[in-house]
Amino acid sequence: MKHHRVVVSRHGGPRVLQWVEAELPEPKAGEVRVKVAAAGVSAYDLMFRRFSLLPGTPRTPFTLGADVVGTAEKLGGSVSVVRPGQMVAGATFCQNGLGGYAEQVCLPESELLPVPAGVDPAEAVCLVTNYLTAYAALHRAAEVRRGERILVHGAAGGVGTALLELGKLAGAEMYATASKRNHELVARLGATPIDYRTEDFVKRVRAQTGGGADAVFDPIGGFRQLRRSRDALREGGRLVWFGVAGVGRGGLPVIPRTMLAVAWIAAFPAGRVLRFFPDLGKDNAWYRRTLAELLELLAAGKIQPVIAARIPLAEAARAHAILESGEYAGKLVLTAGA
Ligand SMILES: NC(=O)c1ccc[n+]([C@@H]2O[C@H](COP(=O)([O-])OP(=O)(O)OC[C@H]3O[C@@H](n4cnc5c(N)ncnc54)[C@H](OP(=O)(O)O)[C@@H]3O)[C@@H](O)[C@H]2O)c1
Repeated sequence: MKHHRVVVSRHGGPRVLQWVEAELPEPKAGEVRVKVAAAGVSAYDLMFRRFSLLPGTPRTPFTLGADVVGTAEKLGGSVSVVRPGQMVAGATFCQNGLGGYAEQVCLPESELLPVPAGVDPAEAVCLVTNYLTAYAALHRAAEVRRGERILVHGAAGGVGTALLELGKLAGAEMYATASKRNHELVARLGATPIDYRTEDFVKRVRAQTGGGADAVFDPIGGFRQLRRSRDALREGGRLVWFGVAGVGRGGLPVIPRTMLAVAWIAAFPAGRVLRFFPDLGKDNAWYRRTLAELLELLAAGKIQPVIAARIPLAEAARAHAILESGEYAGKLVLTAGA
């Protein structure tokens, strides 16, 4: 039996993504074969597609995609909770280069959560890595409390919009950096927008908060960016660094510069704490509990993920051309099946 998947045939631009026929994967013991309805596209995918030297990059040809929502199609031995035909959501953690950009994918039952009836698969897939990342950053790393002032960088992105939605629910006062074209969206999500291209975010935040933010969330990276994020904090504030989206414009040298900044800030914290980001896959009990909570929030209409575009799986290269352009807000979602 065959299915289709999208493979990174070699490292390079969006056109290296190819729609190919492949053997249908058989679920091993403890696994479920999921017929994909929606697969998430993320900033990580762009880096893994472009660069071969990043730690954790599988060997070509491999399939991208960190998160999926779909129907349980076939159960491996000893699967005890998931039922055939059930709609499930889960993270692939890009294991063995067999990610979610595929018509069918096998995942451990332990990574899969049932999706409540009536929930849109494309909205649900936004929760799996973006909202989990945002939730962990807000509640596990920074432990944001009601009324605290937070600065969110990359606020119009997949994780950024999730941080704003969850930050609002947590009762935070929010400031957010984004390009001008995304300011209306960021304001609608409850934050005061700051144009990082033309404004000094350190000055704006320090002035508006009267001394600095309680927490800053930085997925951009780079030495200058992280130092300035630290400068935007009040004494004793928390800086949560969790990505290197700056690679998009600055290339791979952003990574060593980020590591240097992280070491420098840690060495001279000046009363400000730098928190690193926890690995989503490490603590399965937390992962399951939090994803279930997020799915409930979605089903209850308390969160509404921003979807940049829904693009058929077979046109993944087009989705990556949009990803490459940076001209989108929210999360790009690949859709499959009827
Ligand atoms: N640690 C983890 O587990 C984890 C999980 C998921 C993601 N991440 C990381 O989080 C980052 C964001 O991921 P994503 O999927 O949300 O990316 P995304 O959707 O592509 O969003 C990136 C955003 O960054 C903004 N941006 C670029 N340069 C900026 C700057 N100098 N200042 C402020 N904003 C800037 C862009 O905003 P404009 O369009 O408004 O210019 C864009 O909206 C990535 O680095 C990713 O690796 C980490």
